[in-house]
Amino acid sequence: MKNIDSYTHLRGESVYLDDIPIINGTLWAAVFDSPVAHGRIVSLDAGDAEKMPGVVRVFTAKDIPGENQIGGIVPDEELLASSQVHFCGMPMALVVAESEEQAKAALKKIRIEIEPLEVITDPRIAKEKGELIIPPRTFNIGDTTAAWSECDYVFEGRTETNGQEHLYIETQGAYAVPQENGVIKIHSSTQGPTAVQRTAARVLGIPMHQVEVDTTRLGGGFGGKEDQATTWAVMCALATHYLKKPVKYSLHRMEDMRMTGKRHPYSSDFKIGLNKDLKILAYEAAFYQNAGAAADLSPAVMERTLFHCTNSYYVPNVKATAYSCRTNLPPNTAFRGFGGPQGMFVIEAAIAKTADALNIDASVIQQKNLLRTGDELPYGQKAESEANECWNKAVKLYDIGKLRHEVKQFNEANNLYKKGMALIPICFGISFTKTLMNQARSLVHVYTDGSVGVSTGAVEMGQGVNTKILQVAAAMFSIDPVKVKINSANTYRIANTSPSAASATADLNGKATEIACNAILARFKMVAAEEFKVEPGSVELKEEWVYVDGSKTSWDWEKLVMATFTRRISLSEHAHYTPPQIHFDLSREKGHPFAYHVYGTAIITVTIDCLRGIYEFDSVKVVHDFGSSMNVMIDIGQCEGGIVQGIGWMTMEEIVYDKEGRLRSNALSTYKVPDIYSVPKEIAIHFLETKKDNLAIFRSKAVGEPPLLYGIGAFFALRNALKAFNPDADIAFDAPLTPEKVLMSLYAQTSRDVNVPGRKEVMEK
Ligand code: MTE
Ligand code: HPA
Ligand code: MOS
Repeated sequence: MKNIDSYTHLRGESVYLDDIPIINGTLWAAVFDSPVAHGRIVSLDAGDAEKMPGVVRVFTAKDIPGENQIGGIVPDEELLASSQVHFCGMPMALVVAESEEQAKAALKKIRIEIEPLEVITDPRIAKEKGELIIPPRTFNIGDTTAAWSECDYVFEGRTETNGQEHLYIETQGAYAVPQENGVIKIHSSTQGPTAVQRTAARVLGIPMHQVEVDTTRLGGGFGGKEDQATTWAVMCALATHYLKKPVKYSLHRMEDMRMTGKRHPYSSDFKIGLNKDLKILAYEAAFYQNAGAAADLSPAVMERTLFHCTNSYYVPNVKATAYSCRTNLPPNTAFRGFGGPQGMFVIEAAIAKTADALNIDASVIQQKNLLRTGDELPYGQKAESEANECWNKAVKLYDIGKLRHEVKQFNEANNLYKKGMALIPICFGISFTKTLMNQARSLVHVYTDGSVGVSTGAVEMGQGVNTKILQVAAAMFSIDPVKVKINSANTYRIANTSPSAASATADLNGKATEIACNAILARFKMVAAEEFKVEPGSVELKEEWVYVDGSKTSWDWEKLVMATFTRRISLSEHAHYTPPQIHFDLSREKGHPFAYHVYGTAIITVTIDCLRGIYEFDSVKVVHDFGSSMNVMIDIGQCEGGIVQGIGWMTMEEIVYDKEGRLRSNALSTYKVPDIYSVPKEIAIHFLETKKDNLAIFRSKAVGEPPLLYGIGAFFALRNALKAFNPDADIAFDAPLTPEKVLMSLYAQTSRDVNVPGRKEVMEK
């Protein structure tokens, strides 16, 4: 079925934060943020700002009635800086005025004096200085030290992956509205309504039941609103708490880019060892995560880097250590893949380096080491078999031999353009890595006219989760989907929710909905059984009719609903779901953290223009493990979007902070994201339909994050194209591989700088 949001999107009727009608008397907030990355606050004078026209009040740390603390995992982040600032963009004061323009104008009148302190932007330097967010963690399997002596080949290297701006189309924002009895209702563009509720209560020093958070939908989140939507919501709530007026703040794009964290940049070291048969025997990695100035979600992101450090490969001896390094940048945060992509890039680089040295195609090594059923991952969970299934299917379906031949032929025939191809297998674990977060609730009401309302904690952010939950309810009751309405995520209807994240939203909330519907269904069957004098087991609902022993009865859906209500039996259910089997022992770093894994393989081909360094992706051909997809259109959309976002991260999106910790790529004129022209000319997606049982909702595997990982292949395809032009270029594993870097690599001088026919010709021209 179509995404239910497509109707309102198309008509412009979908309600985002800025579409909520403004209540008379609403005030507007704006944040004054630190212009320096690290320093001691000597003075902050808002006197002139408060005298500006329309200004109602300026709030600073001193005005916070509860705790000045928004840190979730580690309590290390103030809402408003009290004595020190830790990054450029750190909120210092909140101005509230009668109009947005007046609030912004007053910001310019705030006077501050900050005594500068040392600025660290490099994670390796932070680590040297002992600036770690949490103690390092190591995942271990086998014995790498012993294994090196058995290896015929050992290679070491270093990699860099840069951050990534979320660039959700709807910027961060919130609208707080006072209710009776001191309650504050917050409309927040958040992936985590409960996090907003909990933090607002903490900062205001009031119970959580005084805070109602409501989220209809987001114009994108991509992880950027899992934790960092909270700041703006709590700012508005703080002002509302004091002023008893509605307060709104919707960030300008440049404020959003400057003040919020991004995907974590990583700097990493690897060491890989293989035997003569190209089996990887040992792998060691050290990950230096650039966490920014506060923990935010960094410890959890770091954990997923370790979980995915061997990607889709079986490696018997692994030792991987990760450091979460505190720097003076905005706290980095969740971003589609949640640290997994950063871990996978490193082992792909290690394989590419090995392939270079042995003068073979990386795919030979990749293929030989794919996970097989029962293989143990470094954290103790066993693999399912789809790694091979996807790879083999992709190789056959897309005729890899022919593709390879075409690339070779093209490269022989062209000097000014070169093609490169790379394969990338993926493996991604589905569940929150923090086991306790894997729970959800659903509230299902059947109304007496037969229509159905469903509430869960799921936040619709474009990924289609509302449609999937609607499909669950419609299928369970066997009713027309138009009879089902999905309500906004609201903390008064559904409490204590996990954020919509980890790709698990449809699984967790869908399963809870399934359980709720089942409970109501059992009551319906009892009522029908009584009426038709049969056992409840003989009753069935099919296409809005009641069947008994396979024969249609005189009761339709509406009649059944009304009959149940008439007997004073509840037409509502609030159900709870938590996936079985998952556990993790932090003391041993072993367990079964994921409900299941998602697998896939992509073949990526690119053509570079060897005069200009620009490039175009010819195709991305994928075999992806969807389990048994419950909504093909939505799942294709998630794949295409994820792939393009992944390619953007790996090739063109370049976050630049200067040494003083100031964001230089601070607008869309200086930060390039993929547009329609950078989308691959062809994206082919083959659904590997696995019939096996799994813990996904209706066996339709989670699809939100995994496809982004295919983008990693774009880096290696580009690298291969470069090597076709300049085989001697020593191309650093330094992503993104921007056109600028491509151009430099095309003409890089190396120690073996000998005749390369194509290159020489170009240079002579
Ligand atoms: N798709 C769209 N259109 N917009 C988004 O913000 N977020 C991604 C992914 N796909 C996102 C998206 C991220 S980071 C996650 S974790 C999942 O969707 C969350 O939704 P799910 O759990 O329902 O897959
Ligand atoms: N993914 C996304 N968000 C999370 C996770 C995770 O694994 N763990 C905690 N928050
Ligand atoms: Mo997604 S990074 O788990 O919000």
